[in-house]
Amino acid sequence: METLSITRKSHSPEESFRLAESLGLRIQTPCRIALYGDLGAGKTHFVQGLASGLGVAEGSYVTSPSYALIHSYEARLPLHHADLYRLSHSDEVFDIGLYELMASEAVTVVEWAERMEGMEIFDLEIRIEIHGESERTIRAQASGLHFQDLLRSWQQVSHPE
Ligand SMILES: Nc1ncnc2c1ncn2[C@@H]1O[C@H](COP(=O)(O)OP(=O)(O)OP(=O)(O)O)[C@@H](O)[C@H]1O
Ligand SMILES: [Mg+2]
Repeated sequence: METLSITRKSHSPEESFRLAESLGLRIQTPCRIALYGDLGAGKTHFVQGLASGLGVAEGSYVTSPSYALIHSYEARLPLHHADLYRLSHSDEVFDIGLYELMASEAVTVVEWAERMEGMEIFDLEIRIEIHGESERTIRAQASGLHFQDLLRSWQQVSHPE
């Protein structure tokens, strides 16, 4: 199947947050999102923007270090945020119930999705590249038509609201 890729540039953490928030605002259906990028690229920062766009209450977001691999939030659609950096073995993905969450009526975002070792199926794949201290390139890819439309609509946001 053909995929659609779009690229957004960010020059600050705030701009990345707004970009992610504008994507979150446009998500109306269950969605599985993979986030790729080096340590400190801004994956968690992006999820915080998404959370805001989905309507997660301000301040309820978990920012302190934690060993839980998944955090869930109430919003327009439930938001499940998995960070697989500390996954000890790819089988652990089954133990933590991530596949059930991905099959549910929710938005599931996975940091370090590459740790799932080929068992993953995502609607959107987002790659964040670091260019210097505060420049980032955010590349988003969708294969299904519905999510391609979502990306087209996101692409039209020139000045994130
Ligand atoms: N344009 C930018 N967009 C996003 N973050 C930026 C930008 N410029 C600088 N930063 C900084 O980069 C850091 C991103 O941290 P964040 O925790 O989101 O990264 P991460 O990709 O989740 O890392 P990890 O793999 O460790 O979980 C923050 O300190 C943020 O302030
Ligand atoms: Mg992170």
